[in-house]
Amino acid sequence: MERSHYNSELSLANLNQKVTLLGWVSKRRNLGSLLFIDLRDRSGIVQVVVNDGVEIPDVRNEYVIQVKGVVAARGVANPKLKTGEIEVVAEQIILLNSAKTTPLIIADETDALEETRLKYRYLDLRRPVMQKYFDIRDTIKMTVHSFMHQNHFIEIETPMLCASSPEGAKEYLVPSRVHPGSFYALPQSPQMFKQLLMVAGFERYYQIARCFRDEDLRADRQPDFTQIDIETSFLDQNQFLSLMENLVQQIFKNTINYDVPLPLRQMTYHEAMERFGSDKPDTRFGLELNNLKAVFASSGFAAFAAAEAIRAIVVPGVADITTRKVIDELNLEAKKFGLGGLTVIKKENGVLTGSILKMLSEAEIKGLEDVLTVNNNDIIILAAGADNRVTPLLGAIRIKYGRQLGLVKEGTYDLLWVIDFPMFERDVETGEIHASHHPFTRPRDEDLPYLDTDPTKVLSYAYDIVINGYEAGGGTMRIYNQDVQRKIFEILGLSPEDINKKFGYFVDALQYGTPPHAGMAFGLDRLAMILGGTDNIRDVIAFPKNLAAVDPMTNAPTPVTDKQLEELGIKIVE
Ligand code: AMO
Repeated sequence: MERSHYNSELSLANLNQKVTLLGWVSKRRNLGSLLFIDLRDRSGIVQVVVNDGVEIPDVRNEYVIQVKGVVAARGVANPKLKTGEIEVVAEQIILLNSAKTTPLIIADETDALEETRLKYRYLDLRRPVMQKYFDIRDTIKMTVHSFMHQNHFIEIETPMLCASSPEGAKEYLVPSRVHPGSFYALPQSPQMFKQLLMVAGFERYYQIARCFRDEDLRADRQPDFTQIDIETSFLDQNQFLSLMENLVQQIFKNTINYDVPLPLRQMTYHEAMERFGSDKPDTRFGLELNNLKAVFASSGFAAFAAAEAIRAIVVPGVADITTRKVIDELNLEAKKFGLGGLTVIKKENGVLTGSILKMLSEAEIKGLEDVLTVNNNDIIILAAGADNRVTPLLGAIRIKYGRQLGLVKEGTYDLLWVIDFPMFERDVETGEIHASHHPFTRPRDEDLPYLDTDPTKVLSYAYDIVINGYEAGGGTMRIYNQDVQRKIFEILGLSPEDINKKFGYFVDALQYGTPPHAGMAFGLDRLAMILGGTDNIRDVIAFPKNLAAVDPMTNAPTPVTDKQLEELGIKIVE
């Protein structure tokens, strides 16, 4: 169709030019002798004026039209609009299509419920702010393709229909029609395939890969998401991380024109947990955790003396607003983390107050004040108990107060690597040992002796990139030594039969000249979220699922016909 410009291309430079535009009616205002139409296309909005006497069809919001007219300067410019200095004086308007009244307003600001937005996603996506997110997403992908090719990576697709694999989350299964009773699994990530591509000798692989995980959904998690998946051979950890942070720097530059200073900071997992109570610390603000173990080591208060961990944070200037209700909410939070509760101590009129104080000796109270810097009207939030409950609880409370007190400046970015993750973790309930990342993660050389004595002490060559408190990506160096691999399987309690059944082909492949290799995957959706400035992952996925893993537009997942089930040899048990 005829079109001379996209709306946003027009400026005073086009004064008096004849133009032909296409788009949707965003708004119309009838001022008697004048009619104003805001015309929207993908690039933005331009004002169209229809003078008295010019015959035009009846146009309403979201009608699709073609406008022919002449560019004129506006009497009063609109600084909010990129094209605010000009308008197009219409000579002819051609109606291309009408539209029903939309169930949500097509504008950046919306008060529509998320269910409505997802049900009419094609209209929600028509909102300019949403299109901006997808521009950012697209720029990330273009940057990845160009950076990776410049750096000699090759993009290779791996299967969607896979064998069930040993990674963490629950899998989506796809029944096989030709092999009744057998299932494919959708990939949680291309992990084993990309390692096999290293065995194959490709040396540098990447893929913008779709991944599927049946896990509880959150603001930054989808069941069906996208990774920038990467694997390399012959690089040591710092060489690899340096390459990756250069990619991240390019992505920030191309999307939001932000200069990320390199090299990125590296913080050990241990330090991240100690100081921030999280393996994905938002280090843009303080409120750091304090370790009080030494203060209460020989406390007469049994609950403190016996506790594996006692930690506290000091929240400044909130004692006067920390009501009974606030304390109840904090205790509720503690219960969610598996603790009986927590303790709040206030500093009012220069003295500490709180029911716990009468259980503590003077020396302990003094010790508390020596370790913590507490000013008038501050509160101390103190938790005691199992470390893997106390630490994340205080980490979560820290984030809550960081937000509440507005401690983070909008538009600031904080990037770091968290490294040296524990190789194994022990299940709180069952006491069983699991691989923290996956069983092919390489233990640190200096920790190899602990494999025989105390595996939970073993740290691994694993790294996450953390941006503004989000885990934006993560990966590991991989094991390529057969003896180490066997030992890891042993520790995980996998028998030779288990290994053979679960990933025999993979272990087999590693024996045919596997190069030292390492890789990682970035969450593309999470990057788009962070760079787009939204805290909702669903904003940057065109057709996402809601928190109940349902797509309100297509209604997926839906029941299927009896015939389909019969073909697949599946019976539904009520
Ligand atoms: P991992 O499981 O850490 O590693 O995933 C890598 C990155 O993918 C993103 N991510 C998600 N994004 C949205 N929704 C989800 N449900 C979701 N789950 C993960 C995160 C995360 O950092 N194969 C390994 C990588 C490797 O070792 O090379 C892997 O998948 O940003």
